[in-house]
Amino acid sequence: MDAINIEALRNLARQRLPRAVFEFVDGGAQDEVTLRANRDDFAALRLIPRVLSDITQRDLGVELFGQRYAAPLIMAPTGLAGLLSRLGELKAVRAAHRAQIPYCLSMMATRSIEEIAQQDEAPNWFQLYVLRDRGLTKAFIERARAANCSALVLTVDTKLQGPRERDIRNGFTVPPRFGFGTLVDFALHWRWLLDVGLGPKIKFRNFEGTGVNADDAVTITQFISNQYDLSVSWRDVEWFKSEWGGPVLIKGLLHADDAVKAVQSGVDGIIVSNHGGRQLDGAISAIAALPAVTDAVAGRVPVILDGGVRRGVDVIKAIARGATACMIGRPWLYGLAAGGEEGVDTALNILRNEIDVALALLGCASLSEVNRSALAN
Ligand code: FNR
Repeated sequence: MDAINIEALRNLARQRLPRAVFEFVDGGAQDEVTLRANRDDFAALRLIPRVLSDITQRDLGVELFGQRYAAPLIMAPTGLAGLLSRLGELKAVRAAHRAQIPYCLSMMATRSIEEIAQQDEAPNWFQLYVLRDRGLTKAFIERARAANCSALVLTVDTKLQGPRERDIRNGFTVPPRFGFGTLVDFALHWRWLLDVGLGPKIKFRNFEGTGVNADDAVTITQFISNQYDLSVSWRDVEWFKSEWGGPVLIKGLLHADDAVKAVQSGVDGIIVSNHGGRQLDGAISAIAALPAVTDAVAGRVPVILDGGVRRGVDVIKAIARGATACMIGRPWLYGLAAGGEEGVDTALNILRNEIDVALALLGCASLSEVNRSALAN
């Protein structure tokens, strides 16, 4: 499908989706200060290109946990992608594998770990929230292992659900409070209505067979908010590490002191993230938090930037600040909403090409040549 950039995909997504669904994806917490900062702080960074270097052969590849990927991009875990396009997560994982980048499945996806594993031989990552029920958490770890997942991502910035006021205004709440206007808007978006609204019921399929009623998305969301473990601490990270045995990444860390604790707890990777501006409004942007974290980590584990990436040059800026790769959330969700599986391909191709062009114009042939000397500030 045709789209010149990620913003064009966002505009298409806005047209295709009912307003309540688009705003669930697009929005952030409260005044959206952090959501905007994730973009603005990227825009404020300036690069200093080098000239007359041979850039004929360019390499966008990165290595993470012993695996080689074609681009420094990871598809971020997002719940409820099936609300944007039927079988959304299955479409997304196939696109990720075509692009040869990791796909991280959310615990709150509408398709199960097992279904995702059937899409391709390539191993995926799996994202968990820490639940009070350790038996259930342990069962998830076992299932991720059986499904050949290559890394476990623990999201730690969501002890409480962030206050997303757009969702409250739209009645996108637990339980839903859709007004007449919202229901009419659903009906007017006939393409979405036929594909998703009138399609099979949206379920949190990872919870099927766990004894938790997975038939009703609302019940599960309520269950999860009751189940988030507010007491979870660094000691639990060590527990995860020993239960899983493979690479464990912490997602949602912004403070350099926490980065040090993460490394001391034995984590294998750090994802610098404010949850796409959806949790603590007023939190520092991911790109602004990055240098202190990479300094503190000092190369002991890979650091991944997550939040605000909309252009290839953003990825280059993050790498210049010490990141190994970037996670992208909304860019692939906009693509999925705009054009299904092809739309996700388009989003990934746009970013890949933009990274290549930015790398070349910066005067580098590979990502390993990009460092802080490329930054003016
Ligand atoms: C998310 N995010 C998220 N994170 C996570 O760890 N588990 C989840 O289930 C979800 N769900 C989710 C749903 C939606 C609709 C969005 C937009 C985001 C956060 C996500 O993984 C990532 O941190 C942000 O999306 C990154 O910011 P950008 O790339 O969207 O700017």
